[in-house]
Amino acid sequence: MSERLATNLNKTDPEFDLTLRPGQFADFVGQAKVRERLELYVEAARGRGDVLDHVLLFGPPGLGKTTLAYILADAMGVNVKCTSGPVIDKPGDLAGLLTNLERGDILFIDEIHRMQKTVEEYLYSAMEDYVIDIMIDQGPHARSVRLDLKRFTLVGATTRSGLLTAALRSRFGMVNRLDYYNADDLATIIKRSARILNVDIEEDGAREIGARARGTPRIANHLLRWVRDFAQVRADNVITREVADRALTMLDIDSDGLDEMDKRILNALLLKFGGGPVGLSSLAVAVGEEAGTIEEVYEPYLIQEGYIKRTSQGRVATEACYRKLNVKPSKRQAESF
Ligand SMILES: Nc1ncnc2c1ncn2[C@@H]1O[C@H](COP(=O)(O)OP(=O)(O)OP(=O)(O)O)[C@@H](O)[C@H]1O
Ligand SMILES: [Mg+2]
Repeated sequence: MSERLATNLNKTDPEFDLTLRPGQFADFVGQAKVRERLELYVEAARGRGDVLDHVLLFGPPGLGKTTLAYILADAMGVNVKCTSGPVIDKPGDLAGLLTNLERGDILFIDEIHRMQKTVEEYLYSAMEDYVIDIMIDQGPHARSVRLDLKRFTLVGATTRSGLLTAALRSRFGMVNRLDYYNADDLATIIKRSARILNVDIEEDGAREIGARARGTPRIANHLLRWVRDFAQVRADNVITREVADRALTMLDIDSDGLDEMDKRILNALLLKFGGGPVGLSSLAVAVGEEAGTIEEVYEPYLIQEGYIKRTSQGRVATEACYRKLNVKPSKRQAESF
């Protein structure tokens, strides 16, 4: 599979995502800690007839941030308005969104780290004091008008919490980090999706797909769709372990879930840069991918699986990386493990 297709497996496909997106906490698999905290948070707010405090969700793409924002709205029985950081290009746009919220409503801002600085500053008073001071007119007629807002809940999502300013981060009552899902949870998610899509799948088939989905529900669902198509054309419509394996091998996804791009990154790290340390931008040039994509999409999983280490000098290959590519480390390299 080309690396384009690989990245595409974690692209949002609105219609598909919507069909499979769990609508309630009860259907939300995994992330037990986050889920428990949020459920308690909702129960407490509801018990007091209060508005939910602002929530920040962060973690790699496709782990359920948007899903949780909708679940929160459903559990609180409020409306949710969705937008995204880069879309709000002036303070007036933000004011427009905020003044249209009813008490308790959720404003979901995706990619909140990509919001413009000038807009972000307006968000501070909105989050803290539920007011927004907006400048109208220009030049000698310029004046500031204060708009009162109803109490609302901001749910912010980001893949890069490190890029959030401290000022913004500190205004969230609760910060939750989503982690990659384990194999059991992914198998459960796949079985649920298979039920919804009316696909015949065996337990081992679900496990096989789960093990190769990079810990990510969105990828698991996309792989399931591919394996279903494969089963329809090349097997008798039933997803067994063997069928899943053949289908995923055809996509160049190996038994550890690594795709072609992952392997290109590991290869470059070992063979071009002697195991590192190497800077992200050099690595990006060597594999022909954008540095941001490597940092957000590929690297977190490679780090979590222990193939790469991030050090202050740059990225370094681990022992597992040498083993994976069947390369013998030099003495100097072996000493650095
Ligand atoms: N815990 C879960 N249980 C079942 N399905 C899930 C879960 N989390 C996510 N999904 C599935 O994965 C898809 C992607 O989730 P979601 O859109 O919420 O990810 P995200 O974190 O917002 O990603 P991005 O950073 O790309 O916006 C959902 O449509 C849903 O089908
Ligand atoms: Mg999202």
